[in-house]
Amino acid sequence: MEKGIKIVTIGGGSSYTPELVEGFIKRYNELPVRELWLVDIESGKEKLDIVGKLAKRMVKKAGVPMEIHLTLDRREALKDADFVTTQLRVGLLDARIQDERIPLSHGVIGQETNGAGGMFKALRTIPVILDIDKDMSELCPNAWLINFTNPAGMVTEALLRYGKNKKVIGLCNVPIGMEKAVADMLEVDHNRITMDFMGLNHMVFGREIYLDGEKITDKVVDSLAEGKLGSIVKNIQDLEWNPEFIKALRMMPCPYHRYYFQTADMLEEELKEFSKGETRAEVVKRLENDLFELYKDENLDIKPPQLEKRGGAYYSDAACRLINSIYNNKGDIQPVNTKNNGAIEGIENDSAVEISCIITKDGPKPIAMGKLPVSVNGLVQTIKSFERLVVEAAVEGDYHKALLALTINPLIPSEKMAKILLDELLEAHKDYLPQFA
Ligand code: G6P
Repeated sequence: MEKGIKIVTIGGGSSYTPELVEGFIKRYNELPVRELWLVDIESGKEKLDIVGKLAKRMVKKAGVPMEIHLTLDRREALKDADFVTTQLRVGLLDARIQDERIPLSHGVIGQETNGAGGMFKALRTIPVILDIDKDMSELCPNAWLINFTNPAGMVTEALLRYGKNKKVIGLCNVPIGMEKAVADMLEVDHNRITMDFMGLNHMVFGREIYLDGEKITDKVVDSLAEGKLGSIVKNIQDLEWNPEFIKALRMMPCPYHRYYFQTADMLEEELKEFSKGETRAEVVKRLENDLFELYKDENLDIKPPQLEKRGGAYYSDAACRLINSIYNNKGDIQPVNTKNNGAIEGIENDSAVEISCIITKDGPKPIAMGKLPVSVNGLVQTIKSFERLVVEAAVEGDYHKALLALTINPLIPSEKMAKILLDELLEAHKDYLPQFA
């Protein structure tokens, strides 16, 4: 039996893990994962145990020779890993509830990965991810780090600029969700639809759309304008786009663009939910509890369909597809977060972009996309400036860089509000922000 692959998942106690395990099981013949190590921290021990037992039942049912290891000792797990995936939530969902509630209590967009909420998830997460990167440089220097910890774009930016490990890829399920939604709208098989993705994570555009390699952008834009597209992700309200805007844009926006092009409407929706005492994070916390009750059932030995109620559904297909293409040097095209290196003109070479790449054993090769259209270049540059300031603030614990980042973010109405939100969120999350102490 060939050695097979050792994969380590940090944040292994996540409710999403069964989807990852299913992804590795169904690809076992071409991606022989001999060892899957699920790593978590002391406060996630119970979840790790529940998810780990389900993973073992899934593997047993599938009859593949994959050893599932559970540990709280990250360094033990990382030794000689081939791939490391990260899917952690520092402060867990209670921190996300604060990220969403505090801005909303001031009448400002409260969202997991955008605006003030997104900045604070990044401030909590980046030091932890850089610590993992440091361990990897000692214990598995040849491993790929595949990150889908949110905010995936800013985390990738931090790893590219401050990490030791150069084999770093950021991943998200939105692009695969966009392709799937177009395929469903056209009632064709998902793998017949491809797109030229360009932009940033949660700020990505489908620049051109192809059916069997033939450009169908105009047809899809017209259908989008007529509101024919179904939902792409479960976590964002599917407010209608103005048909003329979509025709003017002549590209496919991602679901998160509603926060930027429909800010007032999205805020109104969020405040309606908030006035009933609900943010998305609280909905998700209930979903999580239901999922873990399901996972405890000794008779459950498959990924339950309820997992598809989460916004991150299908991310593990994206992850397993990526790992498979690297391991087997497939040369296929996939959208990932990687170093720009001139692929999008006008964005720094060293910055992370979310872009269609050719995936080989040497990792992602971004496809040159030229300039962003003048219509959206300004927004993308602003978000990239925001991301870079957040990354520096996270690494240095620099209050003023954090204030600047928040002030230039399009979702924050004024510099006075930026300071109010910054001070309140720093206080709320102080246990997870040692760098600001
Ligand atoms: C989308 C995004 C993910 C995000 C998720 C939130 O799919 O791509 O990055 O984490 O939604 O979903 P949730 O169910 O947690 O609100």
